[in-house]
Amino acid sequence: MAATRAAALTETTARAANVDGLRLLLSRGSVGPKHLTAPGPDEAQLRLMVEAALHAPDHAALVPFRFKVVRGEARGRMSALYGESARRAGKDAAGIAMDEERALLPPLTVAVIAKLDLGHPQVPAHEQWACVGGALTNFLNAAHALGFGGKMLSGAGVNSVSMYSLGLVPSG
Ligand SMILES: Cc1cc2nc3c(=O)[nH]c(=O)nc-3n(C[C@H](O)[C@H](O)[C@H](O)COP(=O)(O)O)c2cc1C
Repeated sequence: MAATRAAALTETTARAANVDGLRLLLSRGSVGPKHLTAPGPDEAQLRLMVEAALHAPDHAALVPFRFKVVRGEARGRMSALYGESARRAGKDAAGIAMDEERALLPPLTVAVIAKLDLGHPQVPAHEQWACVGGALTNFLNAAHALGFGGKMLSGAGVNSVSMYSLGLVPSG
């Protein structure tokens, strides 16, 4: 895949207006939680990532997404909720411990929350979902541009009661 990407860049380089921008997009890859080490992005860097997310195509400017930053002590709370979710799913002690640890691995977790207007007269749900996808992609690309790794993860726990407790799933 990397070779294909590199070849495509070579062929279009002469015509591209912003080769560095293209190079950046072509070089992003996901970095899993166990490879992420402190320091994570600071406030100003997070704001830039959100700004990039807000540049995603957004029919009728609905902004159908929210970000919640989980860091510091909140990671402990999230870890406990991951554990609770694993317990509810019937995992054994080792599985529960693994899920609990997962929340503590990265210095910072950003929850992406879809906040769709399902009754919108003009913009159907699939268009709003497309915007959410664009937003999280822009967010990850901005993180990459700032020198940070990251990976979009859902996992089974995402729809659990635990995540509602943390306020990570919109109620309406
Ligand atoms: C909405 C969404 C949810 C995802 N959830 C998971 C997940 O739970 N576990 C996982 O291994 N990959 C998940 N992925 C895929 C990874 O984020 C990543 O894109 C994939 O591993 C390919 O790596 P790359 O981004 O370096 O090409 C998800 C992707 C999206 C867009």
